[in-house]
Amino acid sequence: MLPRCAFSVCHVLVLVLCLSAAEDFDWTKNNHGSFYYGTFPAGFSWGAGSSAYQTEGAWDKDGKGLSIWDVFSHKKGKIQQNETGDSSCEGYYKVKDDVSLMKELKLNHYRFSISWPRLIPTGIKSDHINEKGIQYYDELIDHLLENKITPIVTLYHWDLPQVLQEKYGGWQNISMVNYFNDYANLCFEKFGNRVKYWITFNNPWSVAVEGYETGEHAPGLKMRGTGAYRAAHHIIKAHAKVWHTYDTQWRAKQKGLVGISLSGDWGEPVDISNQKDIEAAERYVQFYLGWFATPIFHGDYPQVMKDFIGRKSVQQGLGTSRLPTFSPQEKSYIKGTCDFLGIGHFTTRYITQKNYPSGRSSSSYFTDRDLAELVDPRWPDPGSEWLYSVPWGFRRLLNFVKTQYGNPMIYVTENGVSEKMLCTELCDDWRIQYYKDYINEMLKAIKDGVNVKGYTAWSLLDKFEWDEGFSERFGLYYVDFRNKNKPRYPKASVQFYKRIVSSNGFPNQREVENWRRKAVETCSSSNQLLAADPLTSHMEMVTEIVVPTVCTLSILLSAIFLMFLLRRRN
Ligand code: NOJ
Repeated sequence: MLPRCAFSVCHVLVLVLCLSAAEDFDWTKNNHGSFYYGTFPAGFSWGAGSSAYQTEGAWDKDGKGLSIWDVFSHKKGKIQQNETGDSSCEGYYKVKDDVSLMKELKLNHYRFSISWPRLIPTGIKSDHINEKGIQYYDELIDHLLENKITPIVTLYHWDLPQVLQEKYGGWQNISMVNYFNDYANLCFEKFGNRVKYWITFNNPWSVAVEGYETGEHAPGLKMRGTGAYRAAHHIIKAHAKVWHTYDTQWRAKQKGLVGISLSGDWGEPVDISNQKDIEAAERYVQFYLGWFATPIFHGDYPQVMKDFIGRKSVQQGLGTSRLPTFSPQEKSYIKGTCDFLGIGHFTTRYITQKNYPSGRSSSSYFTDRDLAELVDPRWPDPGSEWLYSVPWGFRRLLNFVKTQYGNPMIYVTENGVSEKMLCTELCDDWRIQYYKDYINEMLKAIKDGVNVKGYTAWSLLDKFEWDEGFSERFGLYYVDFRNKNKPRYPKASVQFYKRIVSSNGFPNQREVENWRRKAVETCSSSNQLLAADPLTSHMEMVTEIVVPTVCTLSILLSAIFLMFLLRRRN
């Protein structure tokens, strides 16, 4: 995916300096084939993840303020079936239960996010701090640590306080940088004695593109061709400011790390002998991961973004590029603000060159890239429409990060697969296959020399999947959302992932096949349990609604009947 000349320069350097005996990753070969049996480096960290709005519920409890997702999901027509995260998994009330699920999995870390409006209801620290919110996260962190599970904490997983959206236009406004910094500072002050891994933003690509360009996500704005670039610009500045705050005020005492979690699909040229396709695929990755990673590691946007958006802006008769610019001071302030890089990765696309007319009305992030995305119909696609299982793309993306950004320390912060099931299905053989193959490609990437330190399965529980509501289930644990107690049931993948975790990899073919067989065998009994559950909900309905209603009606009727009798006597 790199220009060919870059590969040869790399190769020459490696030969001349004789730095390493390890072979460089060969980008020209599609070596998707064989499975690699082996283990991960000692100390590799295994985890699972969640985010506040997707799992906590308790949207208006204990002094929490509204977030843009509370407001967006309550608008009709924004979310499938008009579902909301109001109660979701009720994670707010189930800290102990959920930590015991993590223990069952033998996890080393748990990745979760803090809800900004739960801590600071208006988003503005000087207005009010919600002590109950602090207590909740205190309890969660303490409970994790008591169980030897390391918390990896995201500060922003998309739930901006609504007041900041209404007053200032959210991430369109530069004032978010200081408000976010105040909030982050509060988190460092309250939790930093125990939390050593901080992620400033989760997947800012989605915040920018889906929040401000397509409007599919909160706050639902469609500012095509400009909104996403401006939002991203402010997010990058906010990230850098928070990193500096930690670096200057907290690092010496707390000795933690601050990173960012970026998502990136891999883009593979449709025709690897066609230079136009090779360049288009490189553009795809640069407009996705590179948009955020390049400023953070190198100080400025990828050259290809500056060139393409700049040229199109001129053609559209604009005086300046729609892509904002960083001043020289800002560049050096932003460069290097990453102690570790979080990578969220799910899928891959084939990419080919495609020109879009550059008229002003058609300007958008998507047309700026001049490319088309394709998929191979043979790729498995069990759940979300966009999520095809293409494990080899993961190894390629990880190698791209290594070569482009100087082999940073990586934590995989999200990787997993969903299902779209009308009936309940705990025997998720296809998820076992997905995890097995993706984790194996990560192992190969580590063998290639990529510095991956941890892996986070996405997600611990089924949960609110943004505009898809509850229709897409990513969990290792199934959550019965029909039951108001939101019980959790292990899917077969729990057993399988647990084996990978306790063996720190894949010991040999016989064992791995055994794990899989056993996992699928045991899931059928849990399936029966779950099948019995509608009966429980039914019984609950009988006791909570039907019985009281019948009693009240009987009392009323008896009273009427008595009155009738008395009248007749008189
Ligand atoms: C990335 C988002 O960060 C996460 O919240 C979501 O559940 C996954 N993508 C799957 O769509």
